[in-house]
Amino acid sequence: MNLIMKMLAVPATVLALWAVNAQAATNDEIAKRLEPVGQVCVQGKECKGMEVAASAGGGDAKTPDSVIAKHCNACHGTGLLGAPKVGDAAAWGERAKKEGGLDGLLAKAISGINAMPPKGTCADCSDADLKGAIQKMSGLK
Ligand code: HEC
Repeated sequence: MNLIMKMLAVPATVLALWAVNAQAATNDEIAKRLEPVGQVCVQGKECKGMEVAASAGGGDAKTPDSVIAKHCNACHGTGLLGAPKVGDAAAWGERAKKEGGLDGLLAKAISGINAMPPKGTCADCSDADLKGAIQKMSGLK
């Protein structure tokens, strides 16, 4: 390779990196602009434009957050009676391994186990509601 080729090759690399960076910055900006809308809706509080959809479903749609707040957090928030704590991925991971994964944990949550009451006291929770809450508390997929 002669010297001129080398001199041309370097700026080309720099230019390519710069292009990638410029793209990343743009994506960041878009994500930031979308963030407020995403957060308001995800947290299940006021979600502009969604009121109609929510009331059409009875106005009492369960989300993992609402199930956890109303039923699971009383014990799993603090680890009461030895309950695995919300967000304690290690503790949940160990249990998941023992029970054969998320579905095994779900089965125990439905039937109850030791001090853990059947359905975690959420009698009108569907299996999917419970599974969503377990996923959220454990971080398991
Ligand atoms: C009255 C307290 C209490 C409430 C309310 C409660 N839990 Fe638990 N939960 C426990 C305790 C205690 C354990 C640990 C039981 C053990 O392994 O001895 C546990 C364990 C679990 C496990 C792991 C089961 C296993 O096989 O290791 C899951 C899953 C679970 N809870 C889900 C839930 C969900 C979902 C809710 C809410 C809908 C909920 N819990 C509400 C006390 C509670």
